[in-house]
Amino acid sequence: MKIILVGANGTMGKHVNQMLALARHEVIRVGRASGDFQVKMENPQEVAQFYKKIGNFDAVVCTAGEVAFTPLLSIQDTEWHSSLQSKLMGQIHLVQQAIPYINERGSFTLISGVLGDEHIRAGTIAATVNSAVEGFVKAAACELSKGVRINGVSPTLLQDSVKDYESYFPGFIPVSGENVAQAFKKSILGIETGQIYRVR
Ligand SMILES: NC(=O)c1ccc[n+]([C@@H]2O[C@H](COP(=O)([O-])OP(=O)(O)OC[C@H]3O[C@@H](n4cnc5c(N)ncnc54)[C@H](OP(=O)(O)O)[C@@H]3O)[C@@H](O)[C@H]2O)c1
Repeated sequence: MKIILVGANGTMGKHVNQMLALARHEVIRVGRASGDFQVKMENPQEVAQFYKKIGNFDAVVCTAGEVAFTPLLSIQDTEWHSSLQSKLMGQIHLVQQAIPYINERGSFTLISGVLGDEHIRAGTIAATVNSAVEGFVKAAACELSKGVRINGVSPTLLQDSVKDYESYFPGFIPVSGENVAQAFKKSILGIETGQIYRVR
């Protein structure tokens, strides 16, 4: 399969990249500054130009998108805007702009996260954005044609990220990147659509 992986060089993306490479898929790695192609997913024109260059493909997988972590009472409008543009609209652009190029029975796999379900201090933007991503996945699944599927993966804190975020996530039990990669595999190679695979 020809698979586009956005965020391939990130903490989570590295595990998904490794899983896909082991299964001998053709992986096109995308990042903001890293990877085979550099694309800012919050820019729909840039995303459209990238797809035009690549041509047809079987799957788009996203392990990218940033949100601000700020206590509710201090959140600035600019933080809402940048977070919504990055993780929510960025992933929506990756889906919408791909429609002319994705093969029949292709798939999209987007990323949300535990903070859509469980809440931490300074996690309001992440909770809002993750829930919106999941809403998009469930609704878009009903409208996509040509047998194209779409699912979301919602992991809890990764073991690799414990050193950076442990103090934000008291009592959360981290998961391995390998287990998260299996949820992506289920979405890409399975038959379901409109699902959110929670890795906890
Ligand atoms: N890490 C966790 O424990 C965890 C748990 C649950 C959910 N998540 C979610 O998973 C996603 C990835 O997290 P991570 O920890 O792997 O992040 P990360 O290590 O910072 O990696 C992010 C990757 O995405 C790329 N990227 C970022 N913004 C982009 C943009 N606007 N356009 C194109 N590419 C972009 C980066 O490109 P460059 O390499 O060029 O910088 C990088 O490869 C985030 O949405 C996060 O909320 C993470």
